[in-house]
Amino acid sequence: MKFAFKTLDDIDYIGKRILLRVDMNCSVDPETKQITDISRIKAIKETLNDLSKSKVVLMAHQGRPGSDDFISLEQHTQALRNLGFNASFVDDIFGEKAKKAISQVKDGEILVLQNVRYFEGEMKKGPPQEVAKEKIVQELYPLFDFFVNDAFGASHRSQASIVGFTTVLPSVAGRLVEKEIRTLTDATDTDRHPWTLVLGGSKVEDKVEILSKLLSTDRVDNALMGGLIGTLFLIADGKISEGYSKVIKGYESAVETARELLRNYSSVITLPEDAAVELDNKRLDCDFTQMQNNPFLDIGPKTINRYEKTIKESAVVFANGPMGYFENELFAQGTMKILDAIADCKGVTVVGGGHMGAMAEKMGLENRITHISTGGGATINFLTGKKLDLIAALEAAAKRMDE
Ligand code: 3PG
Repeated sequence: MKFAFKTLDDIDYIGKRILLRVDMNCSVDPETKQITDISRIKAIKETLNDLSKSKVVLMAHQGRPGSDDFISLEQHTQALRNLGFNASFVDDIFGEKAKKAISQVKDGEILVLQNVRYFEGEMKKGPPQEVAKEKIVQELYPLFDFFVNDAFGASHRSQASIVGFTTVLPSVAGRLVEKEIRTLTDATDTDRHPWTLVLGGSKVEDKVEILSKLLSTDRVDNALMGGLIGTLFLIADGKISEGYSKVIKGYESAVETARELLRNYSSVITLPEDAAVELDNKRLDCDFTQMQNNPFLDIGPKTINRYEKTIKESAVVFANGPMGYFENELFAQGTMKILDAIADCKGVTVVGGGHMGAMAEKMGLENRITHISTGGGATINFLTGKKLDLIAALEAAAKRMDE
């Protein structure tokens, strides 16, 4: 496949100063703040191996301001060291401390900067030329020869560290971005039906918007809902009361869109029929009337059966986001059974997002699923047919490099 953006094959990176943006946003235990899975770190190994004779400065985000998983990148640096890379960490992004450490990086070394979202300006979204004015870009870009972006998971975010540098440095895609785009293009290049989306997890504001775009393409035959986004739809449909919205961040701004989607796509959207809640430290599978105001923590057995059947009969399945609070073993059942059904499906199957992908790997299903994507929101955005912000920015950079 010929890309309109440039890759590592198009530049001479040996001995050069490389600013590398990756997505190593990991699952984090909300209590201990320890990273619980490093699959997104492993996914950038190929790029790091290719850059093993360059001076690499690595930039990444973890969580969002205010979220439970909004932590420093020290543990990520340790994980890189455990994987055999010569990595060190600096607790700064573009201040004097960071600049000094950057100037000392030698060939074969990797310096990890602090979580880019500790800088407020990183959260602003805008066209590449606009976000390039942010301090993070202006302070850092003169220190590098090339910008390599391998952050596929964040490729739908038009933020300074993702697209800003592409306007001021010769910029190329890393190996993971290349592989994701190639594989997703192959997997989506089909008219086969039934086409099933399995959508769970949190980030409900983002998800209703992207679901709305995806459903308007008429590609989806079944949208099976679970997790917090499923809870949102159950409330929007009047199946459970508004009291259950307390645990849903972004509920207020998402619920109206959910209602509209239920009105417009009632034959496509399938909601859970039962739930699992926690009662006396145990899992209780129950109907909605028996939830006793306890949060929806997993899809129940009736829902699991129905979803398994739909998935196994599908020609294409895309899954993103867990069906419940999978971090607790008691409530991982729904997600695991759904993943098993996806592995049994004979069609094209893609599992996306850090959580689902990690669980599929833990279950040893990677060889029975067509593609495990590191992208969650990014992968669903890709499915809508709209060019990802990162790809558009890299294509524009490629044109400038050829001028
Ligand atoms: C993800 O986990 O989907 C990516 O790392 C992007 O994170 P975000 O949704 O917080 O931008």
